Amino acid sequence: MCGIIGRVGDGNAIEPLLTGLENLEYRGYDSAGIAVQNGSGINVEKRSGKVQDLKESIRDPLQGEVGIGHTRWSTHGPPTDANAHPHTDESEDVAVVHNGIIENYAALRERLAANGYEFTSDTDTEVIPHLVQYYLDAGFDSETAFRQAIDELEGSYAVTVMVSGEHVLYGARRGSPLVVGMEDGEYFLASDVPAFLEYTDNVVYLEDGDVVIVDEDGVEFTDCEGDPITRTPETVEWDPEQAGKGEYDHFMLKEITEQPTSLAQALEGRIDSANGRIALADFEPGTFADVDSVQFVACGTSYHAALYGSLVLNQAGIRSTALLANEYSVSAPPVDDDTLVIAVSQSGETADTLAALRQATAAGADTLTVTNVVGSTAAREADDALFIRAGPEIGVAATKTFSSQAVMLTLLAQRIAADRLGDPPADLEALLAELEAMPGRIERLLDESTARGIADRYSDSESYFFIGRGLGFPVALEGALKFKEITYEHAEGFASGELKHGPLALVTPETPVFAIFTGQEDEKTLKNAEEAQTRGAPVIAVCPDGHPAVDAADEHLAIPETVPDLAGLLANVQLQLVSYYAADLLDRPIDKPRNLAKSVTVE
Ligand code: F6R
Repeated sequence: MCGIIGRVGDGNAIEPLLTGLENLEYRGYDSAGIAVQNGSGINVEKRSGKVQDLKESIRDPLQGEVGIGHTRWSTHGPPTDANAHPHTDESEDVAVVHNGIIENYAALRERLAANGYEFTSDTDTEVIPHLVQYYLDAGFDSETAFRQAIDELEGSYAVTVMVSGEHVLYGARRGSPLVVGMEDGEYFLASDVPAFLEYTDNVVYLEDGDVVIVDEDGVEFTDCEGDPITRTPETVEWDPEQAGKGEYDHFMLKEITEQPTSLAQALEGRIDSANGRIALADFEPGTFADVDSVQFVACGTSYHAALYGSLVLNQAGIRSTALLANEYSVSAPPVDDDTLVIAVSQSGETADTLAALRQATAAGADTLTVTNVVGSTAAREADDALFIRAGPEIGVAATKTFSSQAVMLTLLAQRIAADRLGDPPADLEALLAELEAMPGRIERLLDESTARGIADRYSDSESYFFIGRGLGFPVALEGALKFKEITYEHAEGFASGELKHGPLALVTPETPVFAIFTGQEDEKTLKNAEEAQTRGAPVIAVCPDGHPAVDAADEHLAIPETVPDLAGLLANVQLQLVSYYAADLLDRPIDKPRNLAKSVTVE
């Protein structure tokens, strides 16, 4: 996730571009840049850091009526000045800002480099200005050069392109959002409405495959073939105050509802569905052939995702353990050079996790970091890194990053097992198909969720229990953590079978029990839930429609049918919603719970 903006109109574009970038910073904040047409060419200012750093670094007053800007959340290449957008060709004739992932960038880069085009960054985006320049050099006009270039891109993009000396912006959308803003001779292209809401509330949301040409006379909407299409403007109702939260009251709810997009982004280019293979081009074939055992180290929500990954890996036939990073210094199991230690961390900056990673490195293990932040300390210090591409998470409570971590660890586990054991598991194809269906399934779940009603009926209870078995267990732990951290109410997660070994003593009619059914020995989990129900506890079954638990339980939170490896992740989305609505009813400061920080940088 990155934020892009483009502006055409009278007067200087700098102010609207920089304001736009500030309003888009919730989409990425590791680098920022702008490019403007200054009358004699394109002027680019860009750097790593926040928009404020960019503003402070612009010494000479920039001038130009047409410009583009970008705020970055790295996916290819660390946050450096060179990797910041806008990207240009060598002679700065073409400037580009892009949000998305160009899957075939390596092949395009090789071809363009062989034709003498010189690259200066590690990004996938840089192929675009060179490709447009390639077609300009071949004698095409700029619109045709733009169309030819985007025709060659595979993957997802929202892109805005500017050609030197032309008061025009070209924009195209496929898989990443792009919105047009229009007001009396001033036009905008941006990733999201807050970018230009201070200037206009008259917007057109582009659809996939749309191409737009924007100049001071207006906007031309076409399809990718160049045929005119009609797009109807709408008036946006929310005010600039709401900026990054859009129509949502809290970032947490926004981030919960972003999960279909963030998961699609995580999976992009990583599954080769035509051949039923995990592509994970992040790693050479056979990378994990010598891995004998895996230790995961992580904290909090990331630990729950690590536990999830560890269980999938064990099921796939590779020995693995998930360890709390803060316990690792006193209780690390032995490692040798066939041990892979995987640090799981959204921020990549958690001190406990970094300490465990360093200890594992010192002990001679191979290390890998699974993180959301390219360029983070954990990503830099481990031997290798796998990025979950969830985009920035502003709410302190981790939501979308948990789903993306668990999905990426599920894929990674299958890849480790395939490298190590030779043959991929027999049911891999079914799992990959289900993974690809996850964004759609979450979309449906979000549309139909009854979580708000459950929160309403139970939010004055004494204590909340979450139980699950197998892959439902880490989800029970995560459900309870989310609930306690944002509602300030007592909540505990247990392995279903553990309830009867002690915690049952706490069960009363005032302790709702959320029971998670993943298709792994569900009959036993149901029995455990009924043991609580007999003691008066209301049971909320989180399972598909038609499941035997629906009739037995007091309440039902429905999840779409899927394979056991993924059912818990759907259940988790329902539990995130219950926590959110319960905290809202209790009037808690949901995005910033007391005493907590997004990134814990002390041990
Ligand atoms: C809970 C939460 C925390 C973090 C933990 C680790 O919602 O967000 O428990 O998961 O502090 O942080 P990262 O993943 O950045 O290492």
